[in-house]
Amino acid sequence: MGVLEILGEVLYYLAIYYGPAMVANASPVLVGKGTPIDRGVAFVDGRRLLGDGKTWEGLIIGLLFGTTIAAVEAVAFNNPTMYVYGVTGAVGALIGDIVASFFKRRLGYERGAPLPVVDQLDFYIGATVFMLLVGWQPKWGDVVAGAVLIVALHKLTNLIAYYLRLKDVPW
Ligand code: CTP
Ligand code: MG
Repeated sequence: MGVLEILGEVLYYLAIYYGPAMVANASPVLVGKGTPIDRGVAFVDGRRLLGDGKTWEGLIIGLLFGTTIAAVEAVAFNNPTMYVYGVTGAVGALIGDIVASFFKRRLGYERGAPLPVVDQLDFYIGATVFMLLVGWQPKWGDVVAGAVLIVALHKLTNLIAYYLRLKDVPW
């Protein structure tokens, strides 16, 4: 297998199993401002439980968009199991993102402060764990390659945005 064939297989695997999770993870940015899930409450360390970046509106939009993609994929492939994995992956993605924010706050990172790799893979790990819980038997090689690809694509798009002067920093 050549590099392009491997890339094609991994992209296909991502689209099939992680499509709803990726959409669920990407859509909350559309809400802008909303009601914080933690309602402004602080944890015992005095820092916010989750922070203003995790809102109910974002969670709902993510669920709506993610489950829609899951339904579209299941119908397109005439495969009801894809709906189960898709919805589960979308829910797992959103929860993974929330769990990561909880730990970022505990580590002292402000809302929106970059934490490389964790920021890119929180949703992916959440989706994977949740799909495993409902009986998914993944091809681990593709799952790991997919993770590498996601981080690499983020670096690449940030670099391109920097050279196009859309961003001030190349990361
Ligand atoms: N968002 C939201 N609700 C969610 C998840 C995300 O409203 N459940 C929106 C917020 O506007 C957030 C943006 O999507 O700022 C990008 O999400 P993310 O990068 O996960 O949040 P950050 O602002 O970077 O916050 P954190 O440091 O907690 O990751
Ligand atoms: Mg972030």
